[in-house]
Amino acid sequence: MTTGLWIILDHVVALLSIAAWFAAGVTLALRRIRLAPAVLVAAVLVTLVRVGTVAMLAGRGWWFVQEKVLLGLPMLGAAGAVAVLLAGPQLLAVRRGRAAGGSARGVVSVFTAGYSALAGLVVTFLVGYPLTLSAALITISLVCAGALLTARVIAPPAENTADAGVAQAPEGRRAISRRRFLGWTGGAVAVTAAGAGTGLSFLPAESVTRGGGPGRSSRTAVSVADLRGSGSPAPGGIVRRQVLTAKKATVRLPSGREIDAWTYDGEVPGPAITATQGDLVEVRLRNADIEDGLTLHWHGYDVPCGEDGAPGVTQLAVAPGEEFVYRFRADQVGTYWYHTHHASHIGVRKGLYGTLVVEPRDGQRADEPSAAERVDLTLPVHTFDGVVLIAGRDDRTEHPAPPGAPVRLRLINTDSDPHRIVLAGTPFRISAVDGRDLNQPGEVSDVGLRLPAGGRFDLVFVMPDTVVALVVDDDLVGGLRLRPPGDTSGAARIEDTSDLPELDLLRYGAPAAVPFDPRKADRHFTMVLDRGVAMVDGRPAYAHTVNGRGHPSIPDQLVTEGDIVRFTVVNRSLETHPWHLHGHPVLILSRDGTPSTGSPLWVDTFDVRPGETWKVAFRATNPGIWMNHCHNLPHAHQGGMMLRLRYDGVTTPFGGSHGGSPGHGH
Ligand code: C2O
Ligand code: CU
Repeated sequence: MTTGLWIILDHVVALLSIAAWFAAGVTLALRRIRLAPAVLVAAVLVTLVRVGTVAMLAGRGWWFVQEKVLLGLPMLGAAGAVAVLLAGPQLLAVRRGRAAGGSARGVVSVFTAGYSALAGLVVTFLVGYPLTLSAALITISLVCAGALLTARVIAPPAENTADAGVAQAPEGRRAISRRRFLGWTGGAVAVTAAGAGTGLSFLPAESVTRGGGPGRSSRTAVSVADLRGSGSPAPGGIVRRQVLTAKKATVRLPSGREIDAWTYDGEVPGPAITATQGDLVEVRLRNADIEDGLTLHWHGYDVPCGEDGAPGVTQLAVAPGEEFVYRFRADQVGTYWYHTHHASHIGVRKGLYGTLVVEPRDGQRADEPSAAERVDLTLPVHTFDGVVLIAGRDDRTEHPAPPGAPVRLRLINTDSDPHRIVLAGTPFRISAVDGRDLNQPGEVSDVGLRLPAGGRFDLVFVMPDTVVALVVDDDLVGGLRLRPPGDTSGAARIEDTSDLPELDLLRYGAPAAVPFDPRKADRHFTMVLDRGVAMVDGRPAYAHTVNGRGHPSIPDQLVTEGDIVRFTVVNRSLETHPWHLHGHPVLILSRDGTPSTGSPLWVDTFDVRPGETWKVAFRATNPGIWMNHCHNLPHAHQGGMMLRLRYDGVTTPFGGSHGGSPGHGH
């Protein structure tokens, strides 16, 4: 069973235990003497099952259970034990006819167990990992307050009740004063804990983590504004100049449907940017009328930091009427894309994206067919108002391909959710992932591929003399068909693709040497992804959190140039988080403790599914301040799941926190 399923099961058992304890309280309060013992026993049993589910989860990692082990279970265990000790004997006595009914003490204690169970689950949902002392104290105080209030309702002070006669008897008076004493102490505990907890929550939080490496050195500071791209192409290369004008436009899709888009140059996707290795790419971004402002971010391309397009960090967002020139040398070959990084959960979705493909300079061998005989298609997959566009087309795309032609399909997921890709009608290889070639990728067929948000796959094969179908999200109607000229077979005979097993890229291709030893990491950062209450851009929100916090209050990760850096990314939440670091590809080391055994896998986005733990490593060779975030763009930009990786000594004049609000391009 996956950790994700254990998380869900644990939530279900937690809910059951809450229900059982409250049911026990109610039956006891109503003096349902037959039912009450059974329900109480059920509550105890469910609580024991809960111990089991938490123990199972603990086996998957401390991150998954910390708040349960340190607070939830001990609180419930203590309250439950008291409840059994107080209510149990009473129930037995009643059953044997030796007493008339449960006392108030028993009822209150059983309800208190219910509050504890409830509080434990609430802490999991609102706080998660890491549990803070402040949260623990506030929770305990709330449970105490609940217990006191219940006592007040169930056993009001005797002088206010009809049976005030009891208060006249000496034992009655003693009982009442003891109850008052307990009430006052309980109240005092609750108030002190609440006060201390609230006070602690205002302590200033850390703003930097060092991942076990040394702190700031006395290096001379360099500004990201000075980390700009080279002014000239490599020998043999040319300068590729392009102007992209961002503007709103109504775009007519092939089906005739019109969409109101935000575009680069009036097109969705924006103009394809292509280069040959070593060329200098120079793109002048002009903003005509995107009021919010925008940037260009070169997704997966390790440009110098000043060209990275992260507003508020590497530049200001480009406001209407303004421009910004991006310049970098295309040294990396492969399939990439560009998109705005300003409020990108809106901008990218509305169309501010395009493709970037860099071809090798000496890639063409003598025995290779000329460009004319090759089929090379760049296929960004984008969802616009619920309609999937493949390379900007919303209809089924037909493309001629002569039998024997080498074919390369460059798939790019420009959405915030993963897409499932199936290639039917031919065996094929995944020659590159996120632009980087794999080592000895084997031939596969009848498999499904999961393309994470932001990710790219290059699929290659030799065109057969029959139709080949690219199926996205198991939709047999849409997609792309490659058809040999003259073929009239109509639709290919494609069967349902939804049952095809998913290919695991961690076991695909052959191992090869990597340029550093990931075991010798200089720094190690753990990012635990969850949901919880946190500040996002200065406002409290039910955020997508990293280590319990939201952007921009997640501590910066500090590295030094040359460091080998390891990330452990843990997903405690029930949603997938495609993790994306700017400026560096990361090498996948393991998933859920199982090492990657295939080709070295260098990616810029990896899908961390619910309950998963990924370990990756990279070498810090590109100085700057880099965004490090979830590429489910609403998670990052609205939810706050975004932080910075900062090289020692690099500063920014642009504010330092990734811009989310419009209009600071001045
Ligand atoms: Cu493709 Cu920070 O993004
Ligand atoms: Cu996410």
